[in-house]
Amino acid sequence: MQRVTLKDKTFVPYITADKIAESVRLMAQKINTDLASDMPLFLVVLNGSFMFAADLLKEVTIPCEISFIKLASYHGTSSTGTVTEMIGLTEEIKGRTIVVVEDIVDTGVTLEKLMTLLIKKEVKQVKVASFLLKPEAYTKAMVVDYVGMEIPNEFVVGYGLDYDGLGRNMKEIYVLEKK
Ligand code: XMP
Ligand code: MG
Repeated sequence: MQRVTLKDKTFVPYITADKIAESVRLMAQKINTDLASDMPLFLVVLNGSFMFAADLLKEVTIPCEISFIKLASYHGTSSTGTVTEMIGLTEEIKGRTIVVVEDIVDTGVTLEKLMTLLIKKEVKQVKVASFLLKPEAYTKAMVVDYVGMEIPNEFVVGYGLDYDGLGRNMKEIYVLEKK
């Protein structure tokens, strides 16, 4: 693993592909045990989660379905501020066990908005599987049920995560170099 430069920033190696694979396996094992009889629907939040989701779901061996969504935010004309919409969900999810698959939970704002949308659709329960969690930045009360790794409040790229669109394809995770 070498330092990489993406546009104007340099990143240094942080989490190896082996470490990633090991923690993804452990997450999948827990999910296999916990949700064996729930026929969960995994909702993969694009774009960042594509690589994690592929690895995780290869290790998930229980009966399940998989779907992909995107979140679009826009500023409404009312005083409600930013409105978030879920795009791409075609399945009927009422009464189902949903597992949200996220690459990273930072402040938790995004996750909270998604939770609100899912609860409105009268799901049975929502579990959250996020590969990374930044506990120092996290401001919400929701439980992130399955976490691959906790990291400090630093900016990371690779393994699906991008800096300005770049770096998603790297199989390791890199952190912004400290000057
Ligand atoms: P919140 O704060 O809503 O943020 O939990 C979640 C979204 O912010 C992006 N994010 C990152 N992207 N490296 C990235 O490439 C990071 O360190 C990072 N932290 C947050 C990401 O899109 C995530 O879904
Ligand atoms: Mg994301």
